[in-house]
Amino acid sequence: MKFFLDTANLDELRRGAAWGIVDGVTTNPSLIAKEAKPLAEHIREICEIVDGDISAEVVATTAAEMIVEGRELARIHRNVVVKCPLTRDGIRTCATLCKQGIRVNVTLCFSSNQALIAAKAGAYIVSPFVGRIDDIGWNGMDLVRDIVQIYRNYGYKTQILAASLRSPTHVSEAALAGSHIATMPFKVLDMLFNHPLTDKGLDQFLKDWNKAFQPGPAGG
Ligand code: E4P
Repeated sequence: MKFFLDTANLDELRRGAAWGIVDGVTTNPSLIAKEAKPLAEHIREICEIVDGDISAEVVATTAAEMIVEGRELARIHRNVVVKCPLTRDGIRTCATLCKQGIRVNVTLCFSSNQALIAAKAGAYIVSPFVGRIDDIGWNGMDLVRDIVQIYRNYGYKTQILAASLRSPTHVSEAALAGSHIATMPFKVLDMLFNHPLTDKGLDQFLKDWNKAFQPGPAGG
């Protein structure tokens, strides 16, 4: 399973990348806006930190404008994946850009029919938003499971990216469901390391080691 960081914050990206387990980055207009930097420069910096797929989202809403914007985003760096919303215009943009060899991540996917549409349009990635579905009292992970099954039934190559993940449980459930990618905030990636028995075990190992091999007080 690939791990992507769902952030545009360069410090978080540097810290995550240093662990050697980050395969890509997802951004969206809200995440980019938080950093308040010119988009192209910002995306280029992200590409220098993480060598993998970097999603950059269009903000236009008509297909004609999205296609132009998508091409511009794709020109920023060879690793850029153009992110388009799952609207009629977004799907038209996806189909057009894919035919031109530009990789598209279709975002804001909330149903299995929408995921089917994205695959049929040739999307490189589809992003079902797990947490936002949980937020309205449904089960977001059920959608990931359904998409995995549907894509398997027809051999679609579109990668499933479990997005809007809010906890380590979301990450392991997405892995069990067979999602190709999980994108998560830095905080969630950091939490994946934690287990009290790891801390307790290491503490005991070091105590035993030091007792046996460290010289005690003189004459003791
Ligand atoms: C990723 O591609 C999405 O933009 C992101 O996961 C959305 O997460 P949120 O629902 O926490 O904003």
